Amino acid sequence: MDLMEAIQGRRSIRKYKSDPVPEEVFHTLMEAVRWSPSWANTQCWEVIAIKDPKVKSELATALPKGNPALSSMTDAPLVLVLCGKKGISGSYKGQAVTAKGDWLMFDTGIAMQSLCLAAYSLGLGTVVVGMFDHKKAEEILKVPQNVEVVAMTPLGYPATGGATPKRKDISEFVFSDRYGEKG
Ligand SMILES: Cc1cc2nc3c(=O)[nH]c(=O)nc-3n(C[C@H](O)[C@H](O)[C@H](O)COP(=O)(O)O)c2cc1C
Repeated sequence: MDLMEAIQGRRSIRKYKSDPVPEEVFHTLMEAVRWSPSWANTQCWEVIAIKDPKVKSELATALPKGNPALSSMTDAPLVLVLCGKKGISGSYKGQAVTAKGDWLMFDTGIAMQSLCLAAYSLGLGTVVVGMFDHKKAEEILKVPQNVEVVAMTPLGYPATGGATPKRKDISEFVFSDRYGEKG
């Protein structure tokens, strides 16, 4: 699949079939994560792949009732939880080197996009889920103190396509030379 086709065609999928994700497809998606760029190639990401329906149901309790992705957490055959090891990305000898502190959100965000685009190119659906009780999720998944849960996505074959939310026009976010200036 052409890259721009994947970038423009990928949609958040919130309804899934129960068909399992083949092992080789899962492996390809982990390759997409693996080859993502990261701060000084620190690769702070870790992925928890959840198949066990009991763990998926427990994890779903960390989402607020109003989260539109709630049912997909138990309907999809797999849930992937993207974690980041703290104090690595954006740091040198244990010290943050920019005012932004830990860059783990940035690196895991890139990794998530690689995963979502690769999944789409292989016919699978994803939806990035960020609105949930992270502390609760970390307890349920027994994530250690030096690691944090960042986001997750159900993974599986789409039962229905996603709507296409409107995007801003390019002219609304591109400036020339200095902030706010139009060319
Ligand atoms: C960081 C992040 C967090 C998100 N959290 C949620 C979420 O908790 N629940 C949900 O249903 N969708 C969530 N989304 C999906 C967005 O709503 C979706 O990407 C956006 O509406 C654009 O739609 P599209 O992905 O189909 O292009 C999240 C997306 C991102 C990037």
